[in-house]
Amino acid sequence: MRIAISTGGGDAPGLNAVIRAAVLSATSRGWDVLGICRGYFGLLGEDEIIPLTRDRVRGIAHLGGTILRTTNRGNPFAFPVRQPDGSWVEIDRSGELLSTIERLGIDAIITIGGDGSLRIGQQLHERGVRIVGVPKTIDNDVAGTITTFGFDTAVNTAIEAIDKLHTTAESHERVIVMEVMGRHAGFIALHAGVAATADVILIPEVPFDIEKVCAKVRSRDRSGQRFSIVVVAEGAFPVGGQEAIMGSSLPGQDKRVGGIASRIAWEIQERTGKEARSLVLGHLQRGGSPTGYDRLLATRFGGAAVEAVEQKKWGHMVALQSPHIVAIPIADAIGAPRRVELTHDIVRTARAAGISFGD
Ligand code: F6P
Repeated sequence: MRIAISTGGGDAPGLNAVIRAAVLSATSRGWDVLGICRGYFGLLGEDEIIPLTRDRVRGIAHLGGTILRTTNRGNPFAFPVRQPDGSWVEIDRSGELLSTIERLGIDAIITIGGDGSLRIGQQLHERGVRIVGVPKTIDNDVAGTITTFGFDTAVNTAIEAIDKLHTTAESHERVIVMEVMGRHAGFIALHAGVAATADVILIPEVPFDIEKVCAKVRSRDRSGQRFSIVVVAEGAFPVGGQEAIMGSSLPGQDKRVGGIASRIAWEIQERTGKEARSLVLGHLQRGGSPTGYDRLLATRFGGAAVEAVEQKKWGHMVALQSPHIVAIPIADAIGAPRRVELTHDIVRTARAAGISFGD
């Protein structure tokens, strides 16, 4: 048996722990394991294919990033190619990829990725590739699994930042608006904001009214709490408005969202007269060592993915459905992406604790 592993999309702490566990589980069965470098680039002749031995994966479980490297611009069905005149076209290179799989005698592929990579995995599965998926994203927006690895690490990074912002905000009696990742889903903002006791949490699932945000800041002021912490997911947007788009995405990539925190800080300062500052936590959330929770989950996912290959669960993805790891059809997971449920106890408790969602 020869399997190959690929990591696609944005990185997430825990990817190396998945790779390590999958390699150890596969090699203990006597299988051969290859690593496809940079998403599927390795299968398109644009990067390397490397042997993944027990030695190669020694000592990597605690490391952030991915030893296989990754890309969010490598969809083989719509591969971006730059033309001599500087324009871009997208071409279907899936045929090339299928022939390389055949030529290298790869029996199955474990694809570790988020929504985008799982969609590509599903398309490859429909073209006959024996695929098993492992859900990954710090945003936690993949359906069918209670959580994805990387999310806990990102939340902890955000909590640490909010704790630090609290002391400076209080000393200066300022409003500080911190932007976290979460293009379509507000899980990082919600979990970090509640755990680190933010005053306002703005998420894409609840379009906000800036006046309501200002009302919360003013009421804290009146009660003697002369500072406020606002945590905003990058994809949050005002009622009747749109998310803030950054102009710097490349062809083949989703539109980049971001910059909402500075707009909100400016609005708060204009409307309340209070000094406001903003920051974007950005890719700090994707870096660093995975937390113990993420390391364990990633390791379980890696082992379970190999079991799914052994059981020929093609087109399935491993998922946490506590207390067990199960395998569910990738099609089910990508059918309806996960979003914050507004009736969830975390939201209810946050509201009861006085946190404003700007609505
Ligand atoms: O998909 C995870 C994510 O963290 C999103 O929240 C964010 O919009 C995106 O990655 C940013 O990715 P990039 O590395 O392309 O800026």
